[in-house]
Amino acid sequence: MNSRPPRSILVTGGAGFIGSHAVEHWVKTYPEDRLVVLDKLTYAGHVANLASCNGLGKWELVQGDICDASLVGDLFSKHQFDGVLHLAAESHVDRSIANPMEFVQTNVVGTLCLLNVALQAWGEHADRERYLFYHISTDEVYGSLGPEGLFSETTAYDPRSPYSASKAASDHLVRAYHHTYGLPVVLSNCSNNYGPRQYPEKLIPVVVQALAEGRSIPVYGAGANVRDWLYVGDHVRAMEAIFHRGRNGETYNVGGNNEWNNLDLVRLLCRVYDQLHGRPDGTGEAQIAFVTDRKGHDLRYAIDATKIRNELGWTPKTNFEEGLLQTVRFYSPAI
Ligand SMILES: NC(=O)c1ccc[n+]([C@@H]2O[C@H](COP(=O)([O-])OP(=O)(O)OC[C@H]3O[C@@H](n4cnc5c(N)ncnc54)[C@H](O)[C@@H]3O)[C@@H](O)[C@H]2O)c1
Repeated sequence: MNSRPPRSILVTGGAGFIGSHAVEHWVKTYPEDRLVVLDKLTYAGHVANLASCNGLGKWELVQGDICDASLVGDLFSKHQFDGVLHLAAESHVDRSIANPMEFVQTNVVGTLCLLNVALQAWGEHADRERYLFYHISTDEVYGSLGPEGLFSETTAYDPRSPYSASKAASDHLVRAYHHTYGLPVVLSNCSNNYGPRQYPEKLIPVVVQALAEGRSIPVYGAGANVRDWLYVGDHVRAMEAIFHRGRNGETYNVGGNNEWNNLDLVRLLCRVYDQLHGRPDGTGEAQIAFVTDRKGHDLRYAIDATKIRNELGWTPKTNFEEGLLQTVRFYSPAI
């Protein structure tokens, strides 16, 4: 619990994976804050994701599009927001390859719409102590690493998929509104999240569901792509620290210091699943099937999280195997 004055916060994308964990944490930790969750409820957003928040805190869900300037303006007038936690996005790389336009619409135009309304409501050079637009972004904007090196906050942007290009564009717009109009903003670029409630098109839930249904487990290419995995609850704690103490106009990289190539990660998930089900070791691994690689598949992402650790005292806390166990249990509740 915290003694700061109550805030009125717009949470976009709060019915999605990370957003719903953020809302849950917020209503439990800051029950006096008023939250309005604005979510279009696309295929990735579900009212049920917020079920654990029922009866807690002060929040409401508004189904709507962040590109709808008149709706967003009405919400700002009605609720006098002093904070925005902006998570709404189209977020799946494969979908962005199939349909880039939707990604530009939500991720770029939608973010611009929110920035415009916030600027109108708060005015130029608003006080960071009172107002904040917090933009949640991804490490994918930095492009792809070779076997060595880490992304820092000063790494040049080099997005390589329509998803990461649209997120990069939105990051640039957020910084432009800070520099041009003095809008109080912070940004964070986070590595791959995992945990309960992730839509089952992303790697970890895909694997667990395939295991549960006895289907083949698709692994792109040779499974050599490396990602830095972070438990969603650790990301939410980072967001909380950045929202409250992040410096105006700054960016914070958030990562798990937990690199896995896809094949090793899938094998680990198989072992966790087999153990939970009392199956002989190797049962799950027999389901692995290599499939044609994703177009332009980035080889490696890895984060240097020194800045958030030194400035805000944040470090990831969740042990990877424990986090995976909770995640596997969520997707196979019969266990
Ligand atoms: N999942 C990750 O590993 C990861 C890592 C780093 C950053 N991020 C970023 O975090 C944010 C949330 O990611 P997620 O994994 O929870 O995504 P998600 O796809 O699970 O959820 C996105 C939410 O946004 C909503 N939405 C989509 N378009 C909308 C629109 N036009 N108007 C209003 N709502 C809309 C969806 O209905 C959904 O509830 C995104 O901005 C993403 O780029 C995600």
